Amino acid sequence: MAGPLIGILGTAKGEQTLLLQRALLARGAEVQVIHPKKLTCRLPEGGAAGVTATGETVRLRDLRALVIRYLPGGSLEQVTYRLNVLHRLEQDGLLVMNGVDTLERTVDKYYTTSLLAAEGLPVPRTLVSESYDEAMRAVHEWGSVVIKPVFGSQGQGIVRVDDPDTAHRVLRALEMGHYLYYVQEYLPHEGVDYRLFVIGGRMSGAMRRRSSNWRTNIACGGQAEPFQPPDSFCRLALDASALLGADYLGVDILSSDGKPYVLEANGIPGWLGLQTVVKYDIADELAAFILEKASR
Ligand SMILES: Nc1ncnc2c1ncn2[C@@H]1O[C@H](COP(=O)(O)OP(=O)(O)O)[C@@H](O)[C@H]1O
Ligand SMILES: [Mg+2]
Repeated sequence: MAGPLIGILGTAKGEQTLLLQRALLARGAEVQVIHPKKLTCRLPEGGAAGVTATGETVRLRDLRALVIRYLPGGSLEQVTYRLNVLHRLEQDGLLVMNGVDTLERTVDKYYTTSLLAAEGLPVPRTLVSESYDEAMRAVHEWGSVVIKPVFGSQGQGIVRVDDPDTAHRVLRALEMGHYLYYVQEYLPHEGVDYRLFVIGGRMSGAMRRRSSNWRTNIACGGQAEPFQPPDSFCRLALDASALLGADYLGVDILSSDGKPYVLEANGIPGWLGLQTVVKYDIADELAAFILEKASR
């Protein structure tokens, strides 16, 4: 008997997509990789019944679950449409992982940080605004800040600013690109932070990231090191996962002055760096969880 058909929203070359595909196949599932730009909806069939992936024979209603590995940026129209297709699929009973609510909560750094803060998780002081004056006020107040893209990832586009003149240039440039201001106090650290990986509400693994740079992302040259997280870090990661409703989640924790802060939660987390420092097969653990949840 054929195993369940699992869709992966991703690109055929995505490294984690390939690893997950292999792991799912090894566990007896069938897998269809679907590029997010190929989703086509026919109405009035509506919902999952009317959704196909252009060029693929698969109809989304034939899937047992759809795992989201790639949600590209784009125009407001593209981004809204793609999320709404996922909403309709979910409303029609398709298991989407992470679920659309979780994706929405984690894709926007403002929304994530706000939700975490509301539940009392420690986050850096952050100002989000469209006002140059408000952003400048935060720069003056905190002295050293990091300015981040709200939709950013892998450290790309994050700048550290220590003086008002540079801040002025950066803020005005962002204004010209119609970007929001996401200004955060710089938390002093020695080029070290931590990535915790949660699967199905349980700690999967963790790494220490070390860099000669203040940005520790692996993509920015950070090195992964084995790390056994203390209970306090695990609690933060598990609390973040629970309150964001995540099937799996990457949580960045920075320790500054002896106190841990949650920097961000990633709902489409990579694990290539983490895989180099843990002994178990992360893709297989994720595949096992996906298939277990899909069979409920
Ligand atoms: N407020 C901060 N103070 C000091 N370092 C920071 C701060 N915010 C981010 N960093 C550094 O920059 C990295 C990337 O920031 P993060 O918020 O995780 O965005 P991204 O989505 O790009 O990974 C972090 O892993 C950390 O090393
Ligand atoms: Mg990060």
